[in-house]
Amino acid sequence: MATEKARIGLFRFARALPRTENLDEFADARLKSSAFFPTRRLEFKTGAQHDETLCLPHVLDRRKSLASVSKFDLLLIVVFANRLAKNFQKLKGWAKQAGFEAFRVYDRDIPEYPYIVEIFKDHAVLWDKSEDWKDAEKNHLPEALAALPAVLNIPPENIILKERQRQSGLAQYEKQDQLQQRFWIQEGRAKYWVNLQDYLDTGLFLDHRPLRQKFAKQSQGLRFLNLFSYTGSVSVAAAIGGAETVSVDLSATYTQWSKDNFVLNQLPLGNHEWVQGNVLEWLAQASAKKFDLIFLDPPTFSNSKRMEDSFEVERDQIALLDSAMAHLQPDGILYFSNNKRKFRMEPELLQKYVVTEITEATLPRDFHDQKIHHCWTFRRS
Ligand SMILES: C[S@@+](CC[C@H](N)C(=O)[O-])C[C@H]1O[C@@H](n2cnc3c(N)ncnc32)[C@H](O)[C@@H]1O
Repeated sequence: MATEKARIGLFRFARALPRTENLDEFADARLKSSAFFPTRRLEFKTGAQHDETLCLPHVLDRRKSLASVSKFDLLLIVVFANRLAKNFQKLKGWAKQAGFEAFRVYDRDIPEYPYIVEIFKDHAVLWDKSEDWKDAEKNHLPEALAALPAVLNIPPENIILKERQRQSGLAQYEKQDQLQQRFWIQEGRAKYWVNLQDYLDTGLFLDHRPLRQKFAKQSQGLRFLNLFSYTGSVSVAAAIGGAETVSVDLSATYTQWSKDNFVLNQLPLGNHEWVQGNVLEWLAQASAKKFDLIFLDPPTFSNSKRMEDSFEVERDQIALLDSAMAHLQPDGILYFSNNKRKFRMEPELLQKYVVTEITEATLPRDFHDQKIHHCWTFRRS
């Protein structure tokens, strides 16, 4: 039986299809129709014919029996596979031309498939964003996992599933696995190490690709400070653009990863500095060094054995921005970004500094999520 949710999802995402009261008939008609598929004709009844592009029989093989799959579920699988194929078709030419080997290809487009899919060269990561992430059947997880290799032309063993439980503080940055598999991807002129299995994140946040591109073009001869630098990808971009960089992060693992990224890009290590420590303490103690560009991208929340106090980006924004702005050259620019969806800037900051919101210009073309981050430039008034 089709649920009301499935009905809504179906009609929202298959709006172009004819309306009918008889959903079974509708499903039958669509499953037999070649018009529904972007690539080649698919004959589909219980003794389904094979289709090389979408491999739906392969998807269904994972179920106990075909009879147990409602026509609605079948139709939803097709809607998901088609949406994924359509997005992939649309983005792969763009990514190839720009030299981006990592990009986001699906972002919760269909409510019944609450996933994010990101491609990293010949691998894909499927992030499970469902609320009840443990209930795989309910979330169509087997079908989603099976559809990916077929649609993206990626071997099943190169599809990595990430199920993120709510994490707090630095637990989210700690090692998840011991596989130590890493490989590098190209992004424009830069290369970055990624590790899709051993940590909750991959080593490269794709939402900041536009800013990395910007820094790679506009950093010649500048002193660049990267606060909460993670694996140093933004520092690498600025260094490729000709900057001298300082990267500050609490984690020893990510500080080493950042250095590895510099080595990978054959950047002279002598022009660059790494500080493994608490950003807030370093800003308070660092000698009066000033920077032309500062990238300040804190986590929403952080605490750790290595920190006495916890940090919350909204609560601590004034102290953080004030101490970071103290390290900015008079004509320098600080880029402040964070991922707190409901972040509200304190009016006091707007009075003290020249603040311009640049979120829209910093969102990548492959992201649908307009709230993935918020970003502002800060200048002295
Ligand atoms: C969201 S990531 C930053 C992403 C990075 N700016 C990028 O675009 O790749 C958060 C980073 O902050 C670091 N971190 C968390 N609390 C910290 C603190 N108090 N001082 C320094 N680093 C911290 C973590 O180790 C992690 O690498």
